[in-house]
Amino acid sequence: MNNKDAPIGIFDSGVGGLTVMKEIEEILPYESLIYLGDTARTPYGTRSQERIKKLSFRNILFLEQFKVKLVVVACNTSSAVALDYLRENFSIPIIGVIEPGVRLAVERTKNMRIGVIGTEATINAGAYQKAILNANPEIKVFAKACPLFVPLVEEGFTNGKIPELAAETYLAEFRQNNIDTLLLGCTHYPILIEPIRKIMGESVDIINSAQAVAEETQKFLKKNSMLGKNHTPYKIFYVTDAPERFRRIGERFLKKRLDDIRLVEI
Ligand code: DGL
Repeated sequence: MNNKDAPIGIFDSGVGGLTVMKEIEEILPYESLIYLGDTARTPYGTRSQERIKKLSFRNILFLEQFKVKLVVVACNTSSAVALDYLRENFSIPIIGVIEPGVRLAVERTKNMRIGVIGTEATINAGAYQKAILNANPEIKVFAKACPLFVPLVEEGFTNGKIPELAAETYLAEFRQNNIDTLLLGCTHYPILIEPIRKIMGESVDIINSAQAVAEETQKFLKKNSMLGKNHTPYKIFYVTDAPERFRRIGERFLKKRLDDIRLVEI
């Protein structure tokens, strides 16, 4: 863990965690990154808590073989359901996506009314709701699962009528609830920022937790004198199925080429 130039391990249920990786790459350009997308078992968002814990556990076991100095659980569903369990079972530092996003949302809200959206498993786990109330019990939290958003993003429906209709269907109630802050609690949702903004209006602050996670990772590395100084950092992507689909969707997400994608059985 004291090897500063060791890679950071990042895992997600599939391709969505690339939105988190992108933010990490941007502010930590000297870090090598190993990304694992569990594409054979995606989506996690509709699975049971037991299954999500088991899969998340296996993902960290896989990453450990590369002597990663830190694991970022980029998947909101894994973070919401399994983070405590993972921290109990591994000694390696683990950063999840819930706390950083919550911190930012709690900082930003002025009227103390925050909306949170995520997968079914994320919202049912109640981790966001709990974390917000822990930070400030005065805040009113409105949570909503938006299960259509992930397939829409993966199929490329990120703009126009179809995502706008889905966003209107899911988010209209937030306007009635008069929230001033909306926390995007899923890897895929930053890709839908335009239709979401169109439905919510300019006055609602939309929090992309991927940025908050990258900042948290940077802060943690600095604080523990673990910042990497690799001048030729490497980026390797492991997937458990369908590397070509991962490449296609991933390149659309990141707007750049993904070179080193490797298929693994875990
Ligand atoms: N990565 C998941 C999340 O952030 C979304 C996709 C899935 O359901 O696996 O919750």
